[in-house]
Amino acid sequence: MKVLTVFASGGGSNFKAIHHSIVSGEIHGEIALLVSNNPNCGAVKYADEAGITHTIINQSRYPEKKYRDDTMLEILLGIEPDLIILAGYMKKIPDKVVNRFNKKIVNIHPALLPKFGGKGYYGMNVHQAVMNAGEEKSGATVHFVNEEYDKGSILAQEEVIIEPQDTAKSLAEKVLKIEHELYPQVIKAYCEDRIIWKNNQPKIEEVIEN
Ligand code: GRF
Repeated sequence: MKVLTVFASGGGSNFKAIHHSIVSGEIHGEIALLVSNNPNCGAVKYADEAGITHTIINQSRYPEKKYRDDTMLEILLGIEPDLIILAGYMKKIPDKVVNRFNKKIVNIHPALLPKFGGKGYYGMNVHQAVMNAGEEKSGATVHFVNEEYDKGSILAQEEVIIEPQDTAKSLAEKVLKIEHELYPQVIKAYCEDRIIWKNNQPKIEEVIEN
């Protein structure tokens, strides 16, 4: 059973999807903690309802950046999670946390990286940029986290087709829907030790059915 920590700042629909897959027995893991910077977000509300421990790490609670970052690291070292799952977390993970949990932090991004990623590409900005560029498809990407926004090794992607009648809003809905399938699948694979690193590139080993 893997120990998981989720970081979320927003609605928390990916967090919910992952938790549902745990409750249904699909994912062999347990969420030891939810970390958020926003005490009023949907993810924190869901954690309360579902009986998942949460902690708030933000500037009003820890005004000094160094102390804030050290506190985050200390909390995580106390848990020693096998995997840290960023699910709509709007803050940058401090370098000292990224380094200590190398290859153990994943993020989901609502576009087909390496396109439409990096600083400023979050939320509806991403989908608006995809629409403005006249792309024929978009999708979701799960990637490992390194010190640069959206630049870590790509682990899995799922595409959606953009129809002529799509708007940034309808695209966001389509992408979010596939995120709810893709992210739990990837975390399931991680919990079953099916993420293989070869030449510094991760790959998901598929289950071979007899
Ligand atoms: C998702 O679109 C995800 O790709 C991005 O933030 C959004 C989070 O949505 N990183 P939710 O809070 O899981 O509903």
